[in-house]
Amino acid sequence: MGGKRVTSGMRPTGSMHLGNLLGALNNWVQLQDKYECFFFIVDWHALTTPGGGSAVGYENVGELRNRVREIAIDWVASGLDPDKSSIFIQSHVPEVAELHLLFSMITPLGWLERNPTFREMVQGYKIESPSYGLMGYPTLQAADILAYKGDFVPVGKDQEVHINMTRDLGQRFNSLYGKDVFPITEALLTEVPKVPGIDSVDKKMSKSSGNHIAISFSEEETSQKIKNMFTDPVKLRKDDPGHPDGCVVFAFHDIYNKSLLEGIRSECEKGERGCVQCKMQLADMMNGSLRPIREKRKKLVEKPEIIREILSAGAKKAEKIARDTLEEVRDVMNLPTREKF
Ligand code: TRP
Repeated sequence: MGGKRVTSGMRPTGSMHLGNLLGALNNWVQLQDKYECFFFIVDWHALTTPGGGSAVGYENVGELRNRVREIAIDWVASGLDPDKSSIFIQSHVPEVAELHLLFSMITPLGWLERNPTFREMVQGYKIESPSYGLMGYPTLQAADILAYKGDFVPVGKDQEVHINMTRDLGQRFNSLYGKDVFPITEALLTEVPKVPGIDSVDKKMSKSSGNHIAISFSEEETSQKIKNMFTDPVKLRKDDPGHPDGCVVFAFHDIYNKSLLEGIRSECEKGERGCVQCKMQLADMMNGSLRPIREKRKKLVEKPEIIREILSAGAKKAEKIARDTLEEVRDVMNLPTREKF
């Protein structure tokens, strides 16, 4: 599979948590050794929704720069490697905006109207009058991917519609202008462990629900969050038999303590394991696994110029590719460029 390109982006929703780490980042880290990778923080996409509260949006840009920096720090601390991948900020490559404009001319409105995530966002953020930019969200995403001719896009299932639209738009462009400029982009839907919120096995960990453990939390904060987790309500004393299925502490042991899982289950069910001890053991495992990431994070926070350099070098590498793509695009579209006119 040599020579294929991977592209993916994340919205700057704030510092990352275990759900992002286990769900996306660890997978991206693996992909770096197989493909040429482009990972970007989509600051323009953050402006498609109004924002409000702690959410960044076009009405709420105060935290935008901080959020972008925090994510970049988390990415590098978690193992994205600037020597292997291009790590950068979406808006540092203006060719993406140009490609978005050109794509907007050939994106049928029907595709955008049918996009289920458009409706979800309108309802979720209670947007009375959705903007042109929100409607064009998938067109901008297609430009993100196709500016670098992305073959594969590692994303969650919720993004599949956007990736299919990217592929369709690329193919539509190719057939309109009679040249295979863009590849047939595919989503890489990887099986990821379901990371529950710390409040319930039935909820997904998310920053907006406040049921997350951030990479940036201290070990004390992490342990405290684990101590406060609800366990089996009918297990009041250590020797009461417990019900590990449905217990959120057990669900996290399933992620962090897999090799001991069956022992933990039977001890809990037999009433040989107290919840306090069970939580302390989990806190040790989780903190232990996060320790190297947190140590690296701390160094990056102390020396902000490192992240700035990584992002600037990443943008330079990405920009070079995007410039070539745009030259090809202008050419097949017969645009009157300064050179060819
Ligand atoms: N829409 C994606 C999300 O919400 C973020 C995103 C923007 C993206 N551009 C992208 C993902 C390009 C993959 C490729 O998660």
